[in-house]
Amino acid sequence: MRPEPPPTDAPTWKTAWDAALYGPDGFFRRESPAAHFRTSVHTSNRFAEAVVRLVRDAGLDTVVDIGAGRGELLAAVHALAPDLELLGVEVARRPAGLPDAVAWTTALPESVDGLMIANEWLDNIPCHVVEMAPSGRAHVVHVDPRTGEESLGRPLDHDSVPASLAAWCERWWPLSPAAPGTRAEVGTTRDAAWADVVRRVTRGLAVAVDYGHTRDTRPPLGSLRSYRDGREAQVLPDGSRDVTAHVAVDAVADLVGATVLPQREALRALGVSGARPDLATATEDPAGYVRALSRAGEAAELTAAGGLGDFSWIVTAVGDVAAPFTG
Ligand SMILES: C[S@@+](CC[C@H](N)C(=O)[O-])C[C@H]1O[C@@H](n2cnc3c(N)ncnc32)[C@H](O)[C@@H]1O
Repeated sequence: MRPEPPPTDAPTWKTAWDAALYGPDGFFRRESPAAHFRTSVHTSNRFAEAVVRLVRDAGLDTVVDIGAGRGELLAAVHALAPDLELLGVEVARRPAGLPDAVAWTTALPESVDGLMIANEWLDNIPCHVVEMAPSGRAHVVHVDPRTGEESLGRPLDHDSVPASLAAWCERWWPLSPAAPGTRAEVGTTRDAAWADVVRRVTRGLAVAVDYGHTRDTRPPLGSLRSYRDGREAQVLPDGSRDVTAHVAVDAVADLVGATVLPQREALRALGVSGARPDLATATEDPAGYVRALSRAGEAAELTAAGGLGDFSWIVTAVGDVAAPFTG
C-alpha cells in the first residue's frame, strides 16, 4: 500500500475545487446541473419571461447566458421571443435538442451589445478558503479531494501567498484572531470573473444572479456545500458532485459599480407576481383561473423569502441603456 501523503501535500481548496468541477472529466463537463439541483431557471418559464421583459424594456436584442447549463433558459427565451439573438457560454458541450437559433460556445464573446446574464454561475467559481488558526494567523486551507480531510497551509501573510488574498479579506471578510476556526471564502476570483464579463458589455446590461452575503451577514464558518442527485451531500471536491459557496455580492458589485437587489424585487418589477387570482373569476373561467393560480404558485417560488426570492441580482447598465429597477 502506498503511504498517505502528509496533509500539507494536499491541494488548496481552490485547486481541488477547480479540478473537481472543470478538470478534463470534471463534474460540469459530464453532468447536467438540473440532474443535481434546481435553479430559478428550472422551476418554470416565469424566470425566462422576466428576462425577456428586461431585454425588451432596455431596448436590447441579444442575450448571452454565461454558465448556460443545458440551455434551459435560452430555449425558454427563444420560445417566447424568437427574434432575439441568443448565445450560451458553457464549458459543457452543446446540448442535444437545443434550437438551432441558439448559438453555443465555450468562450466569452469579446464584446456584447445586449444582456449578459449569469444565473448561479459565480457560486461555482472556485476560490481560496482561509481559516483562522489558534495562533491568531489566518491560513490557506488545503483539502484531500478523496476524503475531504482538510489541513492548514501557508499563513495568509506569507511571502508566497498573493497579497491580494489578505487585502480582500481585510476589506470584505475580516477574520478575528480571537476566533480560531472561523473561515472566509476569498472572493477575488468571483470579483475578477464578473469584472471580466462587465468589461465586455459595450452597451447593455450585465446581471449576475446568485445566493450570497454581505459584510453584515458573512457565515462565520463559510458556506462551502455539495449537491448530488437533488440532495445536499458531504462537501467533497472529488468530481462526483457539485461544489459551491455563496458569493460576497457586495464585493462583486463594488468592483463593477453595480446595484444589488433581491430577486423578489427584481422579478416583481418585471411583472412576476405571486398574487393569487380573484376567486370570483373561477366560476366564469375555471380553466383560466387554474392557469392563473398555477402561474401565481410559480411566481411565489421564485420570490419566496428564505428561498429563491432572497437571491441577489447584481445589475450594471452600460452605455445609453437606462438602469433598470431604479424607479
Ligand atoms: C450552477 S450551474 C447553473 C446553470 C444555469 N445557469 C442554471 O441556472 O440552471 C453553473 C454552470 O456554469 C458553468 N460554468 C462554470 N464556469 C464556467 C466558465 N468559465 N465558462 C462557461 N461555463 C461555466 C458550469 O459548467 C455549469 O453548467
